[in-house]
Amino acid sequence: MTLLVKGGTVIGPTGSQKADVLVQGEKIVALLDPLFSATIAPDEVIDATGKYVIPGGIDAHTHMELPFGGTAASDTFDTGTRAAAWGGTTTIIDFAVQKTGDVVQDGLAAWHAKAEGNCHVDYAFHMILGGVDGDSLKAMDSLVRDEGITSFKLFMAYPGVFYSDDGQILRAMQTARENGAMIMMHAENGIAIDVLVQQALARGESDPIYHGITRPPALETEATSRAIALAEVAKDCPLYIVHLSASGALEAVAQARDAGRNVFAETCPQYLYLTLEDQLGAPGFEGAKWVCSTPLRSKHESHAKDLWKGLRSNDLAIVSTDHCPFCMKDQKELGRGDFSKIPNGIGGVEHRVDLIYQGVVDGQLSLERWVETIATTPARMFGLYPQKGIVAPGSDADLVVYDPNGTTRIGVETHHMNMDYSAYEGVEIQGRVGTVISRGEVIVADGNYHGRKGRGRYLKRGLSSYLV
Ligand code: URP
Ligand code: ZN
Ligand code: ZN
Ligand code: ZN
Repeated sequence: MTLLVKGGTVIGPTGSQKADVLVQGEKIVALLDPLFSATIAPDEVIDATGKYVIPGGIDAHTHMELPFGGTAASDTFDTGTRAAAWGGTTTIIDFAVQKTGDVVQDGLAAWHAKAEGNCHVDYAFHMILGGVDGDSLKAMDSLVRDEGITSFKLFMAYPGVFYSDDGQILRAMQTARENGAMIMMHAENGIAIDVLVQQALARGESDPIYHGITRPPALETEATSRAIALAEVAKDCPLYIVHLSASGALEAVAQARDAGRNVFAETCPQYLYLTLEDQLGAPGFEGAKWVCSTPLRSKHESHAKDLWKGLRSNDLAIVSTDHCPFCMKDQKELGRGDFSKIPNGIGGVEHRVDLIYQGVVDGQLSLERWVETIATTPARMFGLYPQKGIVAPGSDADLVVYDPNGTTRIGVETHHMNMDYSAYEGVEIQGRVGTVISRGEVIVADGNYHGRKGRGRYLKRGLSSYLV
């Protein structure tokens, strides 16, 4: 079975070219000069005239079905990966969880059980370490060696839930330095935050906006700097700061990078577009829709502007979503009257490709940088390249035909995520995901869905291509 994606402009991380993409089975076999491809007769032709052809998006940070805050993220691997496909994301890297006191391998087995047979697109796992001890350190080695899991997330936040102290963090970093894995860090000073939360609640400050006010930028900056220092002590263990939102934290990452350190970071669309005042501070309990950690930042400070600049300068390497949706009904509601009980998370797996394309329209990013931050770098950072993340012969035929002349209006009535609201309700994108191809199979075309649950495969990952 051969498929030709014809007439489009192929966008890669280093340049763009008019080329037709020839697919055979699950793989890209050639990028052809349009004059040449006129001489071949493929089984199927997809017209990409006037459109961009980009590698399928890779969302390196999702939490399908994550148990959190007394409930669980509302997208399953079925509904969440289907929504991802609709939005042009053909690979997700979700987080398997070792809860404190549990065995790492049991946590991994539980995540495989949730995902297997349910995914619409390909998937891989990072591992959350909720308890660093002798056994989990040994497990890190075996996950890297045998399970294709080469990155581990630790938390400086959420004491009593996922929190690791500095000694535990240092030991995990030393282990990662030895086995080649990446340490991913949720960098917020959770101990200090808990004090601020208790003080706010004691003053009767219970509305959602206090979630943001009690997690100030300084406590993200402090934790980010501390993580960078600990990684230095661990002989420059590779470190990846997740969901970076504050200018000061970005400054700390930029300094480490300028010093030649193995330090990387991602941000998420919510920090580029949404704010403490306009969303988290919405009247009544409405702001609960945007409770996530790190929190949305103030529009009166320069965070969002600095994050766009960081994306251009590569101090921010990747845009992931941190997709962790909770419905208002029955889920966010758990925190009415006490912001600290609102489940933390925002859903957005369906909108990342569009929202970052809007950065191209707004003059923030080049087309090439768009593709790099949403597909190529995630693949390279997390050991999926060149199978994923690039339109090139030999790579998986994961392709999105993107229409720069189309428009997308985001909203709860049209999205496919299992959420009863949209964090981006009414936002208009000057672009549109057209055809989506996953391993040679057309799964979205002309506004219709052709994929199916269970077709997505587990991807064993290699080590990051960015390590020195
Ligand atoms: O609010 C968030 N980010 N929820 C998901 C868990 C995490 O910390 O990434
Ligand atoms: Zn986190
Ligand atoms: Zn720099
Ligand atoms: Zn997360």
